[in-house]
Amino acid sequence: MDSFLISPNGPLKGSVQISGAKNAVLPVMAAAMLADGVSKISNVPQLKDTKTMSDVLRVTGCRIKQNENDLSIDSSDINHLEAPYELVKTMRASFYVLGPLVAKFGKCRVSLPGGCAWGPRPVDLHLKGLEALGAKINVTHGYVEALCDGRLKGNTFSFPISSVGATANILMAATLAEGTSILQNSSIEPEITALANYLIEMGAEISGVGTRTLIVKGVEKLKPGNGQTIADRIEAGTFLAAAAITRGKVKVTAMVPEHQGALLEVFKNIGCEISIGENWVELDAENKELMPTHITTLPYPGFPTDMQAQLMAVLATVKGTSSVRDTIYNDRFKHVSELERLGAEISLKEDTAIINGGNELTGAQVMASDLRASAALVLAGLVAKGQTEISRIYHLDRGYENFEGKLSKLGAKLERVHKS
Ligand code: UD1
Repeated sequence: MDSFLISPNGPLKGSVQISGAKNAVLPVMAAAMLADGVSKISNVPQLKDTKTMSDVLRVTGCRIKQNENDLSIDSSDINHLEAPYELVKTMRASFYVLGPLVAKFGKCRVSLPGGCAWGPRPVDLHLKGLEALGAKINVTHGYVEALCDGRLKGNTFSFPISSVGATANILMAATLAEGTSILQNSSIEPEITALANYLIEMGAEISGVGTRTLIVKGVEKLKPGNGQTIADRIEAGTFLAAAAITRGKVKVTAMVPEHQGALLEVFKNIGCEISIGENWVELDAENKELMPTHITTLPYPGFPTDMQAQLMAVLATVKGTSSVRDTIYNDRFKHVSELERLGAEISLKEDTAIINGGNELTGAQVMASDLRASAALVLAGLVAKGQTEISRIYHLDRGYENFEGKLSKLGAKLERVHKS
């Protein structure tokens, strides 16, 4: 199992290029199953999660070729309508195959994803949405079996809470349904807009893209898609946080500044200087005395839950009392005890972490528990006095392409070591 060894090496400086978004490409890969033929996706990050999704699609009979960041998915010979437990348990997003498979083939069997490192993550909304489109759902022996007679039927469905995954699954299913579907209170995360745009490129008839009401006029067939993955806003945010925690100056390029509104507000509030260009953001925290703040995670365009761990690490280095409240996953705080091992002073009260910041962080052995928690530990390690050893960094490999290479280029001192 790989670990990172990190030692502080002063403020990070320079520029870093952002990869394609993991959370955007995973549903698009599933969407390719809706067509017959070869779909193409460019700017695909080379990550453990994209490999897992490729494996899930291969099980169904898709043929996949990846050439660096270009991916092609041939869905002409799908013949096994199942996503097995062994794969789905390692990556929740495998569940995205449910909507496309039942919409195209009228039946499928997909393992329930199960919980997550930080608690339960239900899929009830995915199932209710598919039922609204006429699928018969049976949950048995840990699998969801979905069936429909002929095509799914367009319907109006209102998501009781904002769910990125359920919106993606139902949107994909609705594209091949008979008649019109109106999906109310849909998520408006950029990754949903990117999925809708890819589906439109495949011939889907979708209006209201970017709003909470998606109107989908079902079509009989879709053609293979071709499109570019949008930039990863969480990776971009993590590098901005790396600049902030080291009090450095970093220009993050090949990103979409409009996707970062709430995050950039927080960086400005704590005293970082932010410059914005067409496809870049520069964060300057050099010689700045940063200030504490209070953050609440919300669905887009609010502050993303996927950035709260990284910001908590930053706030641990800022003198004064800050707080981070997670309203999306109110027990997503596995990183707290590990940050405490590095000297941070954080107390938890229900869905809120209260950070008494400004203590000097000191290197220690810590353990990564999930993707974004791992990123937070790396950030803390960049400034913790002495050496920090982070074990189980396979979590990081799920979602950050060449993380250590990009950080090293900015001046960070970290190495990957392999321990058997
Ligand atoms: C996606 C992201 C994840 C991010 C999350 C929230 C991907 C692959 N993952 O996860 O990185 O942290 O959005 O922005 O894109 N819920 C239900 N029932 C459901 C589905 C969700 O109650 O059927 C709840 C969840 O427990 C959570 C909330 O809805 O409290 C939002 O979850 P959701 O947006 O669905 O997250 P994911 O799509 O799983």
